Amino acid sequence: MAQALYRKYRPKRLEDVLGQDTNVEILKNAAKAGRLGHAYIFYGARGTGKTTTARLIAKLLNCEKRRKEPAFAAEGEPCNECRECLAIDAQNSMDVIEIDAASNRGIDEIRNLKESIKTSPATGAYKVYIIDEAHMLTGAAFNALLKTLEEPPAHAVIIMATTEFEKLPPTITSRAQRFTFRKQPKAVIMAKLNTIAKEEKIKIEPAALELIAAIGEGSFRDAESLLEQVSSFSDGGAKTAAITLADTERITGRTGLRKVHAFAELMIAKDAKGALAYLAELNDEGHNIVQFTKDLIHYLRKTLSLAINPSLEQSFEKDLTKDELAAMRTLGTSTKDGEGADSATLVKLIKALIRAYAEMRYSPFAIVPLEVMLVEQLA
Ligand SMILES: Nc1ncnc2c1ncn2[C@@H]1O[C@H](COP(=O)(O)OP(=O)(O)OP(=O)(O)O)[C@@H](O)[C@H]1O
Ligand SMILES: [Mg+2]
Ligand SMILES: [Zn+2]
Repeated sequence: MAQALYRKYRPKRLEDVLGQDTNVEILKNAAKAGRLGHAYIFYGARGTGKTTTARLIAKLLNCEKRRKEPAFAAEGEPCNECRECLAIDAQNSMDVIEIDAASNRGIDEIRNLKESIKTSPATGAYKVYIIDEAHMLTGAAFNALLKTLEEPPAHAVIIMATTEFEKLPPTITSRAQRFTFRKQPKAVIMAKLNTIAKEEKIKIEPAALELIAAIGEGSFRDAESLLEQVSSFSDGGAKTAAITLADTERITGRTGLRKVHAFAELMIAKDAKGALAYLAELNDEGHNIVQFTKDLIHYLRKTLSLAINPSLEQSFEKDLTKDELAAMRTLGTSTKDGEGADSATLVKLIKALIRAYAEMRYSPFAIVPLEVMLVEQLA
């Protein structure tokens, strides 16, 4: 693979930006009407489309086909074929300036911006400044930027992207149109991974893709990078068999939810023997036991919350499938024959797991605190 997967599959049209429907709709309407703004702030979770959308705006503003053909401009998408679109995709357009505020906290960059923003665009219609990690700018840099934001030249557009909106001064945020980019549900990320896998002819089990999407925790980029890592890792030689969940668990050091659930079941059934055996097996298979404990804590914590407040299901649906939620509900409902757990038991187990986890992180024998905890709690 010559190009990183996440670069290759960066959306080229607003329509391909997934899960950010309101943003897409507003920007598309503005593009159709030829009324894109002069200052934007894109904020929200990493890997959800901020930089992607900023570059799309740059293309919408400078696309030659859009400038020449009003009928095409009314479609609200870039052509992706003209010189300007191609240059922006290749990141070598003279008129699209990407500034990384994290490096040197943007001092020189903003000074340069103040100067260069006055001159007309080289080949496009607009000069577009994309300021990444905008929250890292210093007070002085913000001040300099503020002056420009108050009176931007007609040919200039400034787009700030950040994961930490609260760190931007209100003087800046109030002068820009603001857009939130949301973390994405597992299902949405999985759907994109599926498309990529098909396109790249990566053979991989659905359960493996699901684990990758889950590890991404709402970020397309994280999930796409991981898919690349997993597929190149198991690519040694002429690979014909599909990548399995076990392969993926081994490469990522993470454990699929099914195993986390099975382990939680053993704990709730007070099956000390079974739990210890299961743990030994996970350890032999090379699972990261510290990470596993963390996943287990989160799993039980969700089980408890769901038992107390069933309407939380809506929020958990982002990370869990319907089947997983059903299994979790069963686990958190205690029945007469002692199958599920009551809240008191869950609280006890979670507390004990957190103690074990704290010890594990600094122990040279990570597995021991967990084993001792199992014996204490279950035997
Ligand atoms: N909404 C989305 N729809 C489809 N793919 C996406 C989306 N958001 C991100 N991606 C994928 O993730 C990659 C990285 O996205 P992008 O650079 O836009 O993230 P970002 O929000 O700027 O993240 P960061 O805060 O880390 O800079 C893209 O190249 C694309 O493959
Ligand atoms: Mg970005
Ligand atoms: Zn174009």
